[in-house]
Amino acid sequence: MKPRILITEPIYNEILEYLQPFAELDIEERGKCKDASYLKSIIGNYDAVISMLSNPVNEEVLQAGEKLKIVANYAVGYDNIDVEAATKLGIKVANTPDVLTDATADIAMALLLAVTRKICEAQHYLREDHFKGWEPLGFLGMGLNGKTMGIIGMGRIGQAVARRAKGFGVQILYHNRNKLEASVEGELNARFTEDIEALVKQSDVLSLNCPLTPETRHLIDANMLKVMPKHAVLINTARGPVVDEEALAEALINGEIGGAGLDVFEKEPAVHPKLLEAPNCVLLPHMGSATIEARMQMGHLAADAILGILNGKPEHEIPNLLN
Ligand code: 8YV
Repeated sequence: MKPRILITEPIYNEILEYLQPFAELDIEERGKCKDASYLKSIIGNYDAVISMLSNPVNEEVLQAGEKLKIVANYAVGYDNIDVEAATKLGIKVANTPDVLTDATADIAMALLLAVTRKICEAQHYLREDHFKGWEPLGFLGMGLNGKTMGIIGMGRIGQAVARRAKGFGVQILYHNRNKLEASVEGELNARFTEDIEALVKQSDVLSLNCPLTPETRHLIDANMLKVMPKHAVLINTARGPVVDEEALAEALINGEIGGAGLDVFEKEPAVHPKLLEAPNCVLLPHMGSATIEARMQMGHLAADAILGILNGKPEHEIPNLLN
């Protein structure tokens, strides 16, 4: 009998065709597996799962996966999976790094430019027929050349953001678990800062690119927002809970910071109602990796990890296993 694979949301047909010769596939309806109890009720039928970052693959769900051998997350972040519990249960976990780095860094820059150059308000103004000719004082924004960007989380995506920002004449300060090699720092024009508060104080732009962990939850809280310069812009393409959304909305409304660009939210898909009202704020529906190229490659990475495990390939030959 062929193994059974659950794919928790519709993905590219090419990936399904790639897996079909080896397994029976069930593709869930959009959104259903956001519910842990639903996921728990069906997971026992499957040998492998392609999960989304919106699926809570918690200990209870994993325990119900009686024949489950691998969970391949269709994302680089895996804070939705209890990897420790999976390891105890002998279930492998994989993710899809690298292939979405450029797409996500591009969205960080798109948000940065949209906020600093007021792209969304300006677009709205024109479409509402308010454009009556060039204005010397219309839509003045913050230029990037010569400014300082603080990057918290200098992994692949943080470095890709730095590389792009360097092209805009921006200097980089960064905080990371590990200091980068001097040659990489040199290439990126980036300086390591141990003290996060000192980094935040000096940053005209603050880009969050760290994973969500107990240490980074609400790292940007009311106190940290108070330390940011009044004109500074916060960009979050990491995970929503890294920022205290209520405090951010207050800071924007009270003019304590200059603006924010967010691709991720604390309680996705819900967006804090105050954020929806806040000024100088560009909000996107978690679409950092949404390029045709990235999503196709993410599918292939997840599929290859699953096929590797189901076919008993040596683990060191299987891409992107996390445990
Ligand atoms: C995001 C992601 O789109 O794969 C992930 O874990 O969340 C990325 O695909 C990005 O980090 C948010 O902009």
